[in-house]
Amino acid sequence: MRSVPLIPKQAAIAVADMIDNCAKVKPGMHVLLVAANDGMYGGINIVDSETIAWLHSAIVQRGADATVIWCDLPIRPTVLWGEGADPGKAWRVPPIVASAMKGADCIISNAVDLTFEEELRETADILEEHNIPYARNMATTGSLLTSNWALTPYELVSEIRVQACALAVPGAKWVMTHPNGSHVEGYVVKPDDMDDYGHYRDIGVYRPFPEGVWSSIKARDAEGVGIINEIGVIWARHIGVPCPFKEPVKVFIEKGQIKKFEGGTAAETLTRFYQFIAKYLGEAAYEVRGFHGGVHPSAILEPHQCPDAPYRHFIEHHHWSSFHFHMGNSRRSKTFPYLMHISAELRGGDLKIGDKYVYKDGRITTADHPKVRAIAAKYKDRPGLEPEKWLQTPR
Ligand SMILES: [Fe+2]
Repeated sequence: MRSVPLIPKQAAIAVADMIDNCAKVKPGMHVLLVAANDGMYGGINIVDSETIAWLHSAIVQRGADATVIWCDLPIRPTVLWGEGADPGKAWRVPPIVASAMKGADCIISNAVDLTFEEELRETADILEEHNIPYARNMATTGSLLTSNWALTPYELVSEIRVQACALAVPGAKWVMTHPNGSHVEGYVVKPDDMDDYGHYRDIGVYRPFPEGVWSSIKARDAEGVGIINEIGVIWARHIGVPCPFKEPVKVFIEKGQIKKFEGGTAAETLTRFYQFIAKYLGEAAYEVRGFHGGVHPSAILEPHQCPDAPYRHFIEHHHWSSFHFHMGNSRRSKTFPYLMHISAELRGGDLKIGDKYVYKDGRITTADHPKVRAIAAKYKDRPGLEPEKWLQTPR
């Protein structure tokens, strides 16, 4: 008899939370589980077979049908630009995966390369055209599923997100400050599809697990200087800069446009990248298109839980002390095949919209909202608003 890996109780709780509350799997649904082979052996799309098996079990236990696709993704340079590169032409979602996606009632993706908002426009186009709910599982290994990050109730972190969105009143002024001297401000722009951000219960078809950030808020007329130590991991790879940088980079912003980068080799690389990409996107390459930040109380993991340092940085991007502004806008170009998501990260500073703080003293203020507190009271046996009580190694 073959031995079957036992699921830790923590992971079982996280898997159930993911399947029921994030993916919202119901009896009779056809659910597609996607993972990439490289991620089992040190590749970017980190995953283990236990996670896929546990998700599969949970889906079928709910009376749904599960189809698992283990795919190969095209082998290609991670840097998208430079001599000989043509970022106007991209790799494609493997056709078998694309066809399977179109036939699914719900997709649970475990592959970073198939993300909704940082990689190929094609992935988002398929999902939006066919209106297919897309759960993005970020806790893709047994140790990630067992962590406090995955065990924190989805409902709780969702409410922190929803209440943060409600603070982004269209027309209001936003101001980011940080003890490192950063000061960036601008104005909130109304979303395209609704009157305000307060109605964002779900973010279209996109449902990340664990919950990560509040919705990206559209911005105009940004001004100031951001002093940043890193940009988001996925585009750090695509640009070819380390994450974090070896020294801080100053980003100078005027009238909603990035004017200059200063500070070491990363600033030089960013300068040349933006010059290159502006050939495809024009002035939009330099636009500060929006801002938002993390909502998760326990999105900081230890090396033994996630040995991959870039992936730990990716997880920390979702921590409730982390916020960012977006450098560049590829959304208006219908032909540019990538979704540029270059997040200028600030951790531990303050963010104010109008007269209300969203982040203050290294923490998101909506964690104190009465609705959030009421939900936390339902989950006393799970990590929540007091993450320090649940640490294996106190910090
Ligand atoms: Fe973002």
